[in-house]
Amino acid sequence: MAAAASSLSDALKSLSLTETLPKYPNCFPEVNPIDIYRAHLTSILTGVTGVDASIIYPALQWTQTLEKGDLVLPVPALRIKGKKPPELAAEWVEKFPESPLVHKPTVTGTFLQFFFKVDKLAELLVPSIIHRKNNYGLNPYLGLKENQDPSKGKKRIIIEFSSPNIAKPFHAGHLRSTIIGGFLANLYEGLGWDVIRVNYLGDWGKQYGLLALGFEKYGDENELLSDPINHLFHIYVKISKDLSAEKDQIKEFKEAGKDKEALELENEGLDEQARRYFKAMVDGDEKAIAQWARFRDMSIKRYKETYARLNIHFDDYSGESQVKQERMDFASQKMADMGVSEESEGAVIVDFSKHIKGKPGTSLERPIIKKKDGTALYLTRDISEMMQREDKYHFDEMIYVVASQQDLHLKQLFKIIELMGYKELAAKCKHINFGMVLGMSTRKGTVKFLDDILRDVGEKMHEVMQKNQAKYEQVENPVATADILGISSVMVQDMSGKRINNYEFNMEAMTSFEGDTGPYLQYAHARLCSITRRANMSEDDLLTADLSLLSEPHAQNLIRVISQYPDVVQNTLKTLEPTTILTYLFKMTHTLSSSYDHLRIVGSEPELAKARMALYDAARIVLNNGMRILGLSPVER
Ligand code: ARG
Repeated sequence: MAAAASSLSDALKSLSLTETLPKYPNCFPEVNPIDIYRAHLTSILTGVTGVDASIIYPALQWTQTLEKGDLVLPVPALRIKGKKPPELAAEWVEKFPESPLVHKPTVTGTFLQFFFKVDKLAELLVPSIIHRKNNYGLNPYLGLKENQDPSKGKKRIIIEFSSPNIAKPFHAGHLRSTIIGGFLANLYEGLGWDVIRVNYLGDWGKQYGLLALGFEKYGDENELLSDPINHLFHIYVKISKDLSAEKDQIKEFKEAGKDKEALELENEGLDEQARRYFKAMVDGDEKAIAQWARFRDMSIKRYKETYARLNIHFDDYSGESQVKQERMDFASQKMADMGVSEESEGAVIVDFSKHIKGKPGTSLERPIIKKKDGTALYLTRDISEMMQREDKYHFDEMIYVVASQQDLHLKQLFKIIELMGYKELAAKCKHINFGMVLGMSTRKGTVKFLDDILRDVGEKMHEVMQKNQAKYEQVENPVATADILGISSVMVQDMSGKRINNYEFNMEAMTSFEGDTGPYLQYAHARLCSITRRANMSEDDLLTADLSLLSEPHAQNLIRVISQYPDVVQNTLKTLEPTTILTYLFKMTHTLSSSYDHLRIVGSEPELAKARMALYDAARIVLNNGMRILGLSPVER
């Protein structure tokens, strides 16, 4: 066999496919094997059909199942007048020349089906996967500016995700945002974009004045140091109770005609103190700011540890507190000047029914921009934060990963930006939403924080593992492994359906090794690793294997499935759904698990064993890459 080729295009040459592939937009033969076939088929089909390549290339589609072929061409897509599609198809098949890469097409209905010659595919594919390893499936060209011209640099995308609120529970919405956002960031990065990960914390407002008062009353320095997130939350719960007791008290006073007492509480009580404390924060009072910054920094430090367990990091811990007052003044002036906002009963609002005619205008409602007392709101801060990010990062796109409960909020935000005259800025922004998680609670009660959820699933996973004592004893560090499998359980369950669907948090189902679960994927990966360890072959062995020996249908199907992976990743850029990749990985692992009995290594002739091992190694790389792009940590045992 020829020396191993390092890239797909070298492989093409070594297969003496001397034809140089013509260039098509969005065609990357070096990194996507299917693109070789698209280009090859396109050049044949232009000759056969007389239709321009620019119409044929994008019309070639992949199939749902392998029985339908590797690629298909819907004849009507070529828009030829006069003859019926089946007639045309039959004519073209007749004219179709002998090809080194594909069999003669078959016709079903109005489709031409193409089946790859798998021996050639294997030679093109398997060594290049073994070479590219972690990079197989990625495509550094897609994120390049101006028609993928490398000299123009990368496009930049901001992905804002997770965004919890300090001293408040990390609820299911934050969990989903974290999982989906982390995945999207990996996806864009893998496809050549410059990705900025932003966490927009809820860390500003009167409630942080209240929290500071709560700390004076209930705080404990040691507890704060050891567990800031829980401690601040407990303080916040206690002081909020005091506040609602105060409100009841005021009401009682009033009902009893004790106006003087009521007024006194109103002027001196917690609510007023919190307001004053927050005012001091806004005015930059050093002591107040220092205390608040300590709470914030300590919470971030703890969050970072948890995010690391999910393979997630952020480039920027922004937050509502980081929006500058000058910015908000500027924005509110601009809104007034452009006639976007108006006064209403002492407050400033946006009445969308005046800006958008008909129903869409009324459905965006009349959000408040500034309260009577001049305080800015959530929406106001988002407007200014967006402009701030534009200046700071000069991004090409921005994604907000936020629950669908905030659909209205984000629509209002984007529309206001547009009405303010920043049409382009608004057009660069996108809301990636998702449905709810039903019934998410810890075993002890309702869930409070991400750590509690992860601890619970980890414990549950440990129990599941112990049910198989023989296997359990082989695991070197069972608690750590259970922890990783637990995290995979939660993440895979979350990514299984379309984002917009709600789902039931089902600890029993998600931690099972059966069905399409996280533990199942991990098991599939560990099994491949164990095959690799046992075979103990060198990379050179694998790269020089005679792949033409892989003639069984099981081997051929597996080769065809793993050739699709780069296409799947690229297609995910359109769906922005983690399930696109996950569904593929389950399909791949199912093909794999039905192959083991037919493609044994132990007991096979040495050459055949080498070829099969090369195929398993390629499958392991694909599974590993797929899991990591989803944010999972593949285990080896
Ligand atoms: N902190 C908010 C919440 O918990 C989510 C922030 C979403 N992002 C945004 N730019 N508004 O509801």
